[in-house]
Amino acid sequence: MKKEMIYEGKAKKVYATDDPEQLIVVYKDDATAFNGLKKGTIAGKGIINNRMSNALMQRLEKAGIPTHLIKELSERETLVKRVEIVPLEVIVRNRSAGSFAKRYGVEEGMVFDEPTVEFSYKNDALGDPLIVRSHVLALKLADQAELAQIESMALRINEVLRAFWASCGIILVDFKLEFGRLKDGSLVLADEISPDTSRLWDSVTHEKLDKDRFRRDLGGVEAAYAEVMRRMREQNEA
Ligand code: TMP
Repeated sequence: MKKEMIYEGKAKKVYATDDPEQLIVVYKDDATAFNGLKKGTIAGKGIINNRMSNALMQRLEKAGIPTHLIKELSERETLVKRVEIVPLEVIVRNRSAGSFAKRYGVEEGMVFDEPTVEFSYKNDALGDPLIVRSHVLALKLADQAELAQIESMALRINEVLRAFWASCGIILVDFKLEFGRLKDGSLVLADEISPDTSRLWDSVTHEKLDKDRFRRDLGGVEAAYAEVMRRMREQNEA
């Protein structure tokens, strides 16, 4: 079923299948940060991210959010709908952290009254720069209707994920989403949702349970991913 590799990203490989509208994504253990400047391996990450992303997308589908997910094929492989990726990283934040804290000179962990949504232009050569809406339109990366839909989907996804992670004793600090267009032009959630693409803090201790442990050399990276997976499993079985 898996045919030629058509794309290799930093954390995943994408293969063609016999069906031109379906692709197979294979999750790797490779980790990068700072636009590929820092490289490493997180043992078992591919398995955790594959399972976690699929479980979260199933949950989102149930809440009425369309996603690219078709079927988990194995511990690292998932069959997905082929999409044209909208070249935007859509970032939702519930608390200050990371680039937000740095840009505005505030502590991490400041609680926002309302979640924020921002866009980065997905372009490795440029280092994924922050982009304002009018520039998204000027560059024709998405049209006005798509931008509005992406924003409302992102906020709805935040509500669903925030409630789920809270039930696991985890604060959803922020996360990054990517959207894609199906053949008929309709938008679906694509890429992945995992500790690589989200900031997840223990609700009580605020211990970081995500890729910041790798980015910042905090140690215990594998253990943190495994802990998030364990809590998700426990909650899904409850
Ligand atoms: P930031 O604070 O560095 O802008 O990151 C915001 C969120 O987006 C955080 O949960 C990590 C995630 N993220 C990615 O998934 N990919 C990236 O390339 C970057 C920079 C952030």
